[in-house]
Amino acid sequence: MKELFLWGGAVAAHQLEGAWNQDGKGVSVCDVLTAGSHSKAREITSTIQEDIYYPNHSGINHYYQYKEDIALFAELGFKTFRMSIAWSRIFPNGDEKEPNEKGLAYYDNLFDELLKHNIQPVVTLSHFEMPYHLVTAYGGFKNRKLIDLFVRYAKTVINRYHKKVNYWLTFNEINNQMNTDSFLFPYTNSGLLFGPEDNRQEMMYQALHHELVASAKIKRFVKEKYPLLQVGCMIAWNPIYPYSCRPEDQLAATQAMHSRTICGDVSVRGHYPNYALKEWEANGIQVKMTDEDLIDLKEGTVDFIGISYYVSHAVDSTKKEDKTGAGFIGSTPNPNLKVTDWEWPIDPVGLRYTLNTLYERYERPIFIVENGFGAVDDESKVVIQDNDRIEYLAAHIREMKKAIELDGVDVIGYTIWGCIDVVSFTTGEMKKRYGLIYVDKDDEGRGTLERRKKKSFTWYQRVIASNGTELDNW
Ligand code: BG6
Repeated sequence: MKELFLWGGAVAAHQLEGAWNQDGKGVSVCDVLTAGSHSKAREITSTIQEDIYYPNHSGINHYYQYKEDIALFAELGFKTFRMSIAWSRIFPNGDEKEPNEKGLAYYDNLFDELLKHNIQPVVTLSHFEMPYHLVTAYGGFKNRKLIDLFVRYAKTVINRYHKKVNYWLTFNEINNQMNTDSFLFPYTNSGLLFGPEDNRQEMMYQALHHELVASAKIKRFVKEKYPLLQVGCMIAWNPIYPYSCRPEDQLAATQAMHSRTICGDVSVRGHYPNYALKEWEANGIQVKMTDEDLIDLKEGTVDFIGISYYVSHAVDSTKKEDKTGAGFIGSTPNPNLKVTDWEWPIDPVGLRYTLNTLYERYERPIFIVENGFGAVDDESKVVIQDNDRIEYLAAHIREMKKAIELDGVDVIGYTIWGCIDVVSFTTGEMKKRYGLIYVDKDDEGRGTLERRKKKSFTWYQRVIASNGTELDNW
């Protein structure tokens, strides 16, 4: 493992900051999302209603408690902290001419606090979040105007923080919106709300194209103005295996993987792959793009690839339905893997496999910016004994090390998702906890907000101090 390997943790603004309407912040798409659960989907309310509980409004109050949280990250030995900027703190409606100084000042203070503790911030510009006004007035990223609005926001924060932040990620899990059967990801990734008559796939690909162009424009801007900064894409790279060694299953798996590879191919190679053009043609999908867009994509390829890795999937070509909700025909449970309480398959070897396939395809540095274990913690113990979480993380880090040390993959960092308990993205729950640090808050928003170190805290502290050597010492 390299000496300067970036060990750390990851979060997103809307899941922890709270202070949803403080210091000039505008309403974000996540501020109108209700709480859900494993069996109940979150909902969008078109306005904010007084009798409804919105979990992201208060998050874990990090906006006011960030110094305390950063002190705990420093105690953990974090080299890096992946976080996001809430676009609606900087441009409350998204289309103002001037940024909100109070929002800018907040992140200045936060970065200073991290740097004081020698923790390097890694910043996502859009982590499932945009000003809600851009949805109601523009229809989200399907509207070409969003390219300029996003690029203006990005330039504003990069100009302001370029001396404090070296690593920038453009769109979190840009490919997750591919599953247009689910309303949540297209809405939070791109601000899309589907009507009954809409061609969902066409709308989504149009929005995706605008995001890929915006991302490339940002990279071009950085290359010219701040050449030492690093810009990456961020893709949910959960592998899809063939269910059997039937050739048809292998082919089905390769085709299903296009939902990941298309974003990597455009971001790293700088052009759309032929399979995408053919798939669009076969499905009558027309994505509008200009000649200038194609130049941007070509000239704005990323410096590194950020990935999230949680699960793997399997595809059975004989099945004509999606049995797991993964968003592709033939998706079927993998009998070789155990699942979490939220039915997420646990597959550490899949991480080594993923790192290998990704590196063979692109030969670009890879940053694992999310990996983690969501579970209900037994809160009765003074120190929560989260052994399952430690086992999950240790197993994944072990496989990551094999990819680096035995297979020669260039991995530059690893940040545990939800290093401190945050509001779950998909369900809005608090009880789906990922943290090494417990936060006293429940699903109804009650609790003291006290922070407590879990057993995994001490374990990860040792992992970082030993640069990944002491994985079994707990
Ligand atoms: C990733 C997201 O998809 O998964 C995070 O980038 C999210 O925002 C994480 O929190 C875990 O998902 P969940 O729904 O368990 O919080």
